[in-house]
Amino acid sequence: MAAIQYTDRGTGVRVSPAGRALTDAVLAALGAPSILNTQPWRWRIDGDTAQLRADRTRQLPVIDPDGRLLTLSCGAALHHARVALAAEGIGCEVAYLPDADDPDLLATVRHAGPVERAAGPQRLRRAMGIRRTDRRPFADRDVPDAALDRLREAAAAAGADLHLVRPQDLVGVVVAAGHAADVEEGDPAYRAELAAWVRDDDADGVPPATAAGSGPRTVPIRDFTGTAERPSVYTGGEVADRHARYAVLVTRGDLPRDWIAAGEALSAVLLTATGDGLAASPMSDLVEVEPARTVLRRMLGDVGHPAMVVRVGVPGRAGAAPEPPRRSSDDVVDGAGG
Ligand SMILES: Cc1cc2nc3c(=O)[nH]c(=O)nc-3n(C[C@H](O)[C@H](O)[C@H](O)COP(=O)(O)O)c2cc1C
Repeated sequence: MAAIQYTDRGTGVRVSPAGRALTDAVLAALGAPSILNTQPWRWRIDGDTAQLRADRTRQLPVIDPDGRLLTLSCGAALHHARVALAAEGIGCEVAYLPDADDPDLLATVRHAGPVERAAGPQRLRRAMGIRRTDRRPFADRDVPDAALDRLREAAAAAGADLHLVRPQDLVGVVVAAGHAADVEEGDPAYRAELAAWVRDDDADGVPPATAAGSGPRTVPIRDFTGTAERPSVYTGGEVADRHARYAVLVTRGDLPRDWIAAGEALSAVLLTATGDGLAASPMSDLVEVEPARTVLRRMLGDVGHPAMVVRVGVPGRAGAAPEPPRRSSDDVVDGAGG
């Protein structure tokens, strides 16, 4: 039976039960992580199907000229929506890049009726409500091996491989991060693009309060505010994140279908980490600069294409990381058919 559903701005739309379930799922996906919190996706609900589109107006021309990180962000939103459906006991069929003439249509998600409600998706659905990118220094405690195994399994189930950086390879990650920072921070166009997205009081972008001045760390994280001290393991003395683990998401190919998979896997890894009480932050700067990405690829023995680095650790402070803003559902979700 059709029902009226209201959006953030009070617009009423008539929806079928399938359209309503899909709308709920894509609204839950508003919380997905995205490069610089650009939230570069649009959803259209059409009968029993939700269409996921890349929003090219939100692509970052300097940081992400090929749209890889935009597509990856959309993949994370897709995974969030799938988790939300599964947690409600709703199955779905996903068609990836279903129209060769319309490459910005990244996926369609068809409501496929009831399935058994499993504990796994429900745990991830709860994690969606509290997951944050946590850039603050981690505690001086090791991440349990069993939790790292679960992250690997989560990535594999979502379509990409997660490679944990071995202690003897950490220097490669330090070199890649330092090189990426040198190249990017030396580019005025990069600095201008970053500055335009680090801001308060908006529905998107990275609020400075969430940026966490990096200070000296084992591996430097992206410097959002231009105030960070450069690292690192070489400088001696006190460095933060000594117990952090670094992992690289790797895909076989390096095409849009692979980037969507990497985004789904990133979402799966971050939600699994949150569910296990761990903190994490993505680090795409290491794959934005080609020589840095090549260092990672060689370090891993050329097993595939590094799509993302994830920093994982035991949370260092009580309390959640600050919550970044999100766009309104009216700006992200079109129509609700049925
Ligand atoms: C593709 C992608 C790349 C990202 N790259 C970085 C990064 O290099 N450094 C960082 O600190 N956070 C990075 N993030 C995290 C985003 O900045 C973060 O998801 C966004 O600001 C929203 O915050 P939230 O994750 O707390 O919801 C990335 C996220 C995605 C999906």
